[in-house]
Amino acid sequence: MGFVEDVSRAAKIILEADAATLISHIDADGISSEAIISQAVTRLGIPVNPVFVRQLEPMTMKHIPDDDTLKIFTDLGGGQQNLLEEAGITADSVLILDHHISQPAPGGTEYFQVNSQFYGEDYVKCSAAGIAYLVARKLDPANTDLAKLSVVGNVGDMMARENHGLVGVARWIAEDGADSGHIRIRRGINCYGLSTRPLHICLSNADDPQIPGISGKPAEAAALLCRIGIYQSPSDQRVWEELSSEEEKRLASVLAEQIIANGESSDGFIAEHYFFPDEMEKTPLRNASEYATMLNACGRWAKPKIGEAVCFGDRGQKYREAEHMLRHHRSIIRELCEYIIETGVEDLGSIQAIHTGDKYPDTIAGIGAGMALSKLDTNKPILVMCSVSDEPNLIKVSMRTYEKVLRRGVDLQEVLVTAAVESGGAGGGHNIAAGAYIPKGCEHDFTRRVNELVKGQFAAGQKDR
Ligand code: C5P
Ligand code: C5P
Ligand code: C5P
Repeated sequence: MGFVEDVSRAAKIILEADAATLISHIDADGISSEAIISQAVTRLGIPVNPVFVRQLEPMTMKHIPDDDTLKIFTDLGGGQQNLLEEAGITADSVLILDHHISQPAPGGTEYFQVNSQFYGEDYVKCSAAGIAYLVARKLDPANTDLAKLSVVGNVGDMMARENHGLVGVARWIAEDGADSGHIRIRRGINCYGLSTRPLHICLSNADDPQIPGISGKPAEAAALLCRIGIYQSPSDQRVWEELSSEEEKRLASVLAEQIIANGESSDGFIAEHYFFPDEMEKTPLRNASEYATMLNACGRWAKPKIGEAVCFGDRGQKYREAEHMLRHHRSIIRELCEYIIETGVEDLGSIQAIHTGDKYPDTIAGIGAGMALSKLDTNKPILVMCSVSDEPNLIKVSMRTYEKVLRRGVDLQEVLVTAAVESGGAGGGHNIAAGAYIPKGCEHDFTRRVNELVKGQFAAGQKDR
């Protein structure tokens, strides 16, 4: 079936439901897709009950109520149909809106899903929040206010990273939000913190690409901003979003010259950003990437419902709590990243690996892996392992890599599914970012096996050239 037909079928399934349970993931994409469906369904007068899980795995299945509500899975489910089948959940009570690689149920139960992986090139870079939005819009064209959350989910899942902006159907959604006045699309320097961080801090954090003489050097960045008349003094606190378009251009051209003068490529130095004009200035809610970090902060620290409340529009007590979670999240992921760099990763040949034990919670292993990798050998995937606090017999595994490594034949989802199953665990995810849970005690053999599988993929990729 085509995408349009599948979205219509999903809308029809929802319209026929008396009540719905929404099962979603605890990251930015999971929380925003849940918030989109929750609002769209509530607006129809159908009661909803949210259930957030860190992942669908045998231990978390118990959180899915055994009742006759429609079970809508967002940002998960496609890769865990075996668990739904084992739990005796029937196909007629399930709707999956996902973008993870699908793994069919072994007993042949055909769960209906709208999955970005099914419809070709234009859909692949669209996260679950994109699919959720298109279903919400089908339910009622007045749901265009939810486009904002859809862009947050997409940006949070790094859908804009490779092309320095959203593409395909995810880009269409951003334009849909812009047409209804909820989103402002702007091109500008590819840095994090454009709405909240003083510009010199923002520039000094640039790592993709690095800006020679500026990255890692906030004082030099402030001096440059004074020299080109954007700062009045080195202690100025202006943020990028406050610059006029003339100032933006002046800054971009000075920085591009600086990158090129150092013989480096300025590719990817300018990216597309998504701002939300109806949110308060200088807050993390003003742009999609900072909003996504706030949702991750809530979800990854076991308060997904705080994130959900922010998505619903709470700007009072819950929002203040989310701000607190964000500060905490930032300081711990910075610490984790430093820990990985300072301790050093073990180079196994084709991958680099580290075990962080019980020092950091398993829910941020993937974020730490991604952020540390930008400071390590970006030609080899990184693998981070850690303990799981409430499951002493399990080890969490997170892997991350870059597009250039995928182009050499690597697929982390395939590697982790294979190696995890062989060691008695389970894994899944994407070619570029995947995770798994494995039994404690088998870490040594597991990492060797992962290394061997990645080595095989590199070798096969070499042959195909
Ligand atoms: O569940 P899952 O989709 O949550 O994982 C999301 C993570 O995967 C993001 O944090 C992001 O780092 C990564 N990702 C990515 N590129 C993709 C898909 C996911 O970097 N195309
Ligand atoms: O799980 P994923 O790899 O997407 O995690 C990366 C998260 O870290 C993102 O939510 C991103 O918004 C956040 N981040 C951050 N500071 C940065 C870069 C990313 O807080 N400099
Ligand atoms: O947990 P982490 O952020 O490393 O997960 C990366 C990707 O792998 C996510 O998309 C997550 O949903 C997926 N994953 C999975 N099965 C697991 C663990 C992670 O599908 N057991």
